[in-house]
Amino acid sequence: MAGYQVEPMLESHMAAVMELERICNPAPWSESSFQAELSNHQATYLVATHNTTLVGFAGYWSIIDEAHVTNIAVHPNHRRNGVGRLLMERILEAAKTTDHTCSTLEVRAGNVAAITLYEKLGFVRCGLRKGYYPKDKEDAVVMWLYGLT
Ligand SMILES: CC(C)(COP(=O)(O)OP(=O)(O)OC[C@H]1O[C@@H](n2cnc3c(N)ncnc32)[C@H](O)[C@@H]1OP(=O)(O)O)[C@@H](O)C(=O)NCCC(=O)NCCS
Repeated sequence: MAGYQVEPMLESHMAAVMELERICNPAPWSESSFQAELSNHQATYLVATHNTTLVGFAGYWSIIDEAHVTNIAVHPNHRRNGVGRLLMERILEAAKTTDHTCSTLEVRAGNVAAITLYEKLGFVRCGLRKGYYPKDKEDAVVMWLYGLT
């Protein structure tokens, strides 16, 4: 996609990742959580940049043959440009090439943008966790994508 690059998340991205996380996530992860993810051998995190500015990130945990998408965010000024889709496609490609057969994630039931993006990539709704999010008790939709390999 013109103008956007995807690369592995590094320690040097951390300040920009934290800024983006605070803008995008109603319950932002702490910096120590991201730091732990960078040294977690079961975790893969990517960032998207535009003219060297970090504009998005996404990651997953490898659990046996399942890729559990943990987090994704795109800066509001760069939304609807295909960055979220690009990051998810790269996540799924990475999972596929490392022998994962499926992917799963949880998403707020009211998050139409994310649910629509995931459905476009082939994820289907498979369950609902009532009152899952501690702060506001919003339900979580559980989605799965099978047949990666
Ligand atoms: C969800 C999010 C990552 C999507 O990123 P994005 O870069 O805007 O997504 P894309 O441009 O790749 O959109 C791909 C498709 O998803 C759907 N979509 C994206 N945003 C949408 C919205 N606001 N409303 C409806 N559909 C939307 C569309 O079908 C879109 O395709 P189109 O633009 O051709 O119509 C972004 O909105 C975001 O960072 N939200 C805050 C963090 C978040 O909710 N993360 C998910 C946690 S589970």
